Amino acid sequence: MAPVGSTSTIEMDRRWGRNVGHRHILLLILLGILSADPSLSIRLPDRIVSSKDYSSNQPLKTAVFALGSFWRSEAVFGCLNGVVRTTAGYAGGSKSNPEYRSLADHAESVQIEYDYRVISYHQLLEVFWSSHDSRQVFGQGPDVGSQYRSIIFTNGTDESRSAAISKEREQTKSKSSIVTTQIQPLETFYPAEPEHQKFELKRHPFLLQLIGNLPEEELEMSSLATKLNSYAAELCPPRIQKHIDAKINDIVRKGWPVLREI
Ligand SMILES: *[C@@H]1O[C@H](CO)[C@@H](O)[C@H](O)[C@H]1NC(C)=O
Repeated sequence: MAPVGSTSTIEMDRRWGRNVGHRHILLLILLGILSADPSLSIRLPDRIVSSKDYSSNQPLKTAVFALGSFWRSEAVFGCLNGVVRTTAGYAGGSKSNPEYRSLADHAESVQIEYDYRVISYHQLLEVFWSSHDSRQVFGQGPDVGSQYRSIIFTNGTDESRSAAISKEREQTKSKSSIVTTQIQPLETFYPAEPEHQKFELKRHPFLLQLIGNLPEEELEMSSLATKLNSYAAELCPPRIQKHIDAKINDIVRKGWPVLREI
């Protein structure tokens, strides 16, 4: 059996199509599998399809960053232990109710809901710095323009102090170019249109199928979808990426519940 990487996941998308009728069973299997590894911190929902697949007494905080395309940004943070949910959106500009085609002076951003007992703001900052080029002026790779600029949005003095210290540290790594990242207080975070949420996951119908083809609102709230969105982009930490690969492979190898003939 070939290892399940993005290619074979796409292959499975093709083979399985969108009409496998056992989605709830598949969802149960996947939830069971993922929750078996505590490092994945998947919380089982009360019902098979639940809009909140995390325990509601988890104390959550919110962080917002801009680091290039928000499709990728969601995936950068979604697989981290302690991250419960990511949302793609717009922030940092003055226009009310920005939209993708007219976001004006806003930057593509990601809002991260996290359990601060499991992952700290400081750790999120580390991931922020290591996951993009903060020295490229107004862009990330081929994505050029002010909507891709690098920003840490802060809420309160603790966060702005942590952000400033981490930026200084980042700058000392090399003096040959300037760290362009802005640090500014968060005013409003505007969630992006549904088609931009969990964008990487939506490119893999097979994975959508595995979690039961959730309706859009539930997909956006789902912690499992948040993790699989990172997996689809191959941005989970290698150990977790492999773990999910193996488990999905297992489901496929068992050949159940594949419809073979009619
Ligand atoms: C800022 O943090 C406070 C306390 O954690 C929270 O109640 C508030 O909603 C946050 N504001 C924003 C804009 O996220």
